[in-house]
Amino acid sequence: MAPSAAAPSILLLLLFLALLHPAAAAAARHRHRFSASLHAASPNASEPPTTFFEVDRPIRPPRGGAVSGPCSTLLLSGTFGATYGRPPVTAAYTPPACLSGGGALALAVLEWSADCRGRQFDRIFGVWLSGAELLRSCTAEPRPNGILWSVSRDVTKYAALLGEPGEVAVYLGNLIDKTYTGVYHANLTLHLYFHAAPPPPPQQQQPADLIVPISRSLPLTDGQWFAIQNATDVQSKKLSIPSNTYRAVLEVFVSFHSDDEFWYTNPPNDYIQANNLSGVPGNGAFREVIARVDGEVVGAVWPFTVIYTGGVNPLLWRPITGIGSFNLPSYDIDITPFLGKLLDGKEHDFGFGVTNALDVWYIDANLHLWLDHKSDKTTGSLLSCDASGLDLNVNSEFTGLDGQFVTSARRHVSATGWVKSSYGEVTTTFHQRFSYENSNVFRKNGTVQIVNQTIDAKSGIFVKDTSSVLLSGESHQVFPLYLYTGTSEKVGDEYSLVSLVEFGINEKKTSGGKLGFFYSSLKNAQSARGTMRVKKNLVVSGLGKTHQVFKYVGTDGCYFRDVSSRNYTILFDRSDDSCSKGAYGGSSAKLKDQPARRKLLVKKL
Ligand SMILES: *[C@@H]1O[C@H](CO)[C@@H](O)[C@H](O)[C@H]1NC(C)=O
Ligand SMILES: *[C@@H]1O[C@H](CO)[C@@H](O)[C@H](O)[C@H]1NC(C)=O
Ligand SMILES: *[C@@H]1O[C@H](CO)[C@@H](O)[C@H](O)[C@H]1NC(C)=O
Ligand SMILES: *[C@@H]1O[C@H](CO)[C@@H](O)[C@H](O)[C@H]1NC(C)=O
Ligand SMILES: *[C@@H]1O[C@H](CO)[C@@H](O)[C@H](O)[C@H]1NC(C)=O
Ligand SMILES: *[C@@H]1O[C@H](CO)[C@@H](O)[C@H](O)[C@H]1NC(C)=O
Ligand SMILES: *[C@@H]1O[C@H](CO)[C@@H](O)[C@H](O)[C@H]1NC(C)=O
Repeated sequence: MAPSAAAPSILLLLLFLALLHPAAAAAARHRHRFSASLHAASPNASEPPTTFFEVDRPIRPPRGGAVSGPCSTLLLSGTFGATYGRPPVTAAYTPPACLSGGGALALAVLEWSADCRGRQFDRIFGVWLSGAELLRSCTAEPRPNGILWSVSRDVTKYAALLGEPGEVAVYLGNLIDKTYTGVYHANLTLHLYFHAAPPPPPQQQQPADLIVPISRSLPLTDGQWFAIQNATDVQSKKLSIPSNTYRAVLEVFVSFHSDDEFWYTNPPNDYIQANNLSGVPGNGAFREVIARVDGEVVGAVWPFTVIYTGGVNPLLWRPITGIGSFNLPSYDIDITPFLGKLLDGKEHDFGFGVTNALDVWYIDANLHLWLDHKSDKTTGSLLSCDASGLDLNVNSEFTGLDGQFVTSARRHVSATGWVKSSYGEVTTTFHQRFSYENSNVFRKNGTVQIVNQTIDAKSGIFVKDTSSVLLSGESHQVFPLYLYTGTSEKVGDEYSLVSLVEFGINEKKTSGGKLGFFYSSLKNAQSARGTMRVKKNLVVSGLGKTHQVFKYVGTDGCYFRDVSSRNYTILFDRSDDSCSKGAYGGSSAKLKDQPARRKLLVKKL
């Protein structure tokens, strides 16, 4: 599908419809990929490059006490042209001199900044330090005049790794040919901030003493992540942990691609068979990642539905990118209750699988370990563990290509165990409770698909010693998603595509204990709609409009942003980082609720 010699006077969008099998169109309509943009032959030299961005809370050093920095170090500078199937770009890592300067680390930020020009797909990439993943991200799609973007992630929790020599690796599998010309150039920089005076007492858990990667080792010709290709595929790594560990948290990175890029839209297999839709990815619309230690379920991840920069209608994500697409969320599973089984100095098997998976899920994890500095041996035992199976229900009703599929699922995981160290005998309970509702409606002979999904994930931690409660924390995440895609009847070789996406992250966290009280509330929502008129494989016109509202209120500060774009142009952009009343349309009242919440928490303790 070479770009045709279209009338050069009109600003034509060239769109390559990657998956346009006519019978498969119903389910695959939104899988269109944006691979070319304005008539690329003659970029307008006076147009500046576009800056893409993901709306997020700016990363700042913790409040209280003077902070110096940043002390910035370029870790790696890479060019990603024909990199698909090639070894990752690597660079030796030496801890920056300022890190051994005696100051206590207040904040570490990893910054990826990149540019690209031409035409290119969205590409997934990962950044690893000594095998531990520090960033999972998706590239922005370039324009003929070039684009720029940067992503920052707080990497303070990897302090133990940052202090040791190692190797930085970046895998970004890109392909270059006559059509896809975009080469990505990127710089990876580490910014360090230090407490200028003695640091204030910690408000949150201190970083782990040791981080053990659960990933694939170099040399490789792709990413250090495991690739999970089907529902029975379990990828694992055997490793032993120090025998003086007293706390362990598994941090899991997840991204889904190819047949499962839009897993929440996949119809059940009986729909595909009945309609002869070979080539349409199926297995239904439910997925979850299961983490196992020695075969036993220790926790799950019900992932946020990240939409990459080429997803649904690529015009929606320019220049405001989809939530989580530049900085994919990672998910924590506290496995401290299981430590009793892992303290024998022997190797244990850490494995990951994906329920109902289709090719391909990229998964790996970092095991954060806290060590007893006053003893070389801790002991422990698992007291109880309840990982009941998945409760999954699918109701499907259809006639031909039209119908409805309603899927619901639940899971609960809970474990309690004690660990005896020089800090005492501490009992930890970690629990997760998930629920999921998904409805998929196909109408108009399968040309309209409407997905309405809610994922609800609660997790909690309760830590006590023989005399008092040390920590009680809860996190509640809700991921709503509404997705409409509709294609008009084809008239000749022309049709139009309409899409609407509304999705977001609502998250509340509370914790109390020895370190004090912490509360945060995040509401991050995007609403995007777009149209495209397609003639042959050429989009002769199109429109993308996106509106995002981000509201964070917490004991560690506030951030508000309300931003909207249309066709690359920002319509308005308001932001505020004060916690003052009025700035958040009433949400500052939530801060006032704090004493009440604190009371509630204390009651629970
Ligand atoms: C519905 O779609 C199928 C497959 O694309 C096609 O064969 C059929 O003719 C369509 N039916 C109607 C009523 O448009
Ligand atoms: C090139 O871009 C400049 C700046 O955006 C604009 O003023 C000018 O009209 C553009 N020229 C063409 C031929 O599109
Ligand atoms: C990377 O850093 C070099 C040197 O500072 C700079 O010239 C280049 O523009 C940077 N590239 C990107 C993509 O930020
Ligand atoms: C699942 O994937 C694994 C790993 O690629 C492969 O060995 C196995 O044969 C696959 N199973 C099925 C049923 O396709
Ligand atoms: C599917 O294919 C089979 C065998 O080719 C055929 O008998 C059946 O009518 C087809 N069904 C539909 C809905 O096209
Ligand atoms: C999506 O489903 C939820 C719960 O079933 C419902 O409350 C909501 O109105 C639905 N949203 C849309 C846009 O249909
Ligand atoms: C948005 O851009 C497309 C493609 O250049 C164009 O067809 C459309 O008219 C633009 N719409 C607006 C409102 O600017």
